Amino acid sequence: MAQTFDTIKTYPGASNEEIRKAMEGAVAVVRSNLPEFTDKFESSNSVNGFYEPTDNVEWTTGFWTGVIWLAYEFTGDEAFKKAASIQVESFLERIEKKNDVNHHDMGFLFSLSCVAAYKLTGNEHAKKAAILAADHLAERFREKGQFLQAWGDPGEPKEYRLIIDCLLNLPILYWASEVTGDPSYADKAKRHIQTAMKCLVRPDNSTYHTHFFDVNTGEPTYGVTHQGNRNGSAWARGQAWGVYGVALSYRYLKNPEYIDLFCRVTDYFVEHLPDDLVPYWDFDFDTGSTEPRDSSASAIAVCGILEMCKYLPKEKADKYLEAADKMLKALIDRCANTDTSVSNGLLLHGTYARDSKENTCKNRGVDECNTWGDYFYMEALTRRMKDWNPYW
Ligand code: GLY
Repeated sequence: MAQTFDTIKTYPGASNEEIRKAMEGAVAVVRSNLPEFTDKFESSNSVNGFYEPTDNVEWTTGFWTGVIWLAYEFTGDEAFKKAASIQVESFLERIEKKNDVNHHDMGFLFSLSCVAAYKLTGNEHAKKAAILAADHLAERFREKGQFLQAWGDPGEPKEYRLIIDCLLNLPILYWASEVTGDPSYADKAKRHIQTAMKCLVRPDNSTYHTHFFDVNTGEPTYGVTHQGNRNGSAWARGQAWGVYGVALSYRYLKNPEYIDLFCRVTDYFVEHLPDDLVPYWDFDFDTGSTEPRDSSASAIAVCGILEMCKYLPKEKADKYLEAADKMLKALIDRCANTDTSVSNGLLLHGTYARDSKENTCKNRGVDECNTWGDYFYMEALTRRMKDWNPYW
């Protein structure tokens, strides 16, 4: 164990002034990116510090639109609203034409772009796109096993599994039930999280990245990693998806079991942080390792803590809030970029994927910015400044 909640107390926290300055620095970078990234999106990760423009493909384009919406909320500047609204039309086209959507990542894509647009501006195209995305995600629910299948054609035996990341795709289902009055979306989300947390959380509170099911009986079979270091290790971003995913389901369902689950996965995350509080890409690695960091994992976990602490008893909330504050300060001090000649991203030192003997990845976006790291960093700053109404 690298940290305890007591050792974390000894680190500096971020002042309100530092938070505001960090947000201003981030928004300045976002503003300078708008001309290049309004009709196009930022690619998933930077290369040598810089994102390339891409069409609306992969699972990640919603993060950039979400970043623009956060900049709009912070500044009230119509230029941001205009750019994000242009991108909403691209998301409507994407879901109507079913472009690159044969996977579960409808929440990552459509909550931060279209649910955000609908909540902030009442955009009806955005509402339509987000409901179509929720319909599409709901079709991936497998009765045999009671889960949303992550990848591949629904029912395909080789891909009959869920992954921990999917917890962030559930809020669009809860939201769709709220706006349509049809409880079936939320019901699927509820059944998915019950299955997922039963399979994924290990007795030591670390988590599996993915878990397979028997296609004929629906019985859970075995857990493996896809992006972590080992099948038995805790991939840092996966653990963070667990922290935030449980918090978001608690927000909608208020199931008291999720409080304990949240504390377990969050304790593991916080107690395995290295000395400088920026996690390595997998919790197999600790202080002194030469392996790369994944700053995005910390940004995600901070957002999860800030969400869940709204519902925890004060003493418990204070303990987690203090840790989140120190983690955010470490991100500001060690990872924030405000120099557009160094990078057009916001949060340095992320890792998209790192190859290892047991995983199936190739190195990608190692020690680079990634769009979700940028997004969750800005969300965390926003949450620290005000009682924020989530896009989730
Ligand atoms: N959801 C995919 C990832 O975290 O890389």
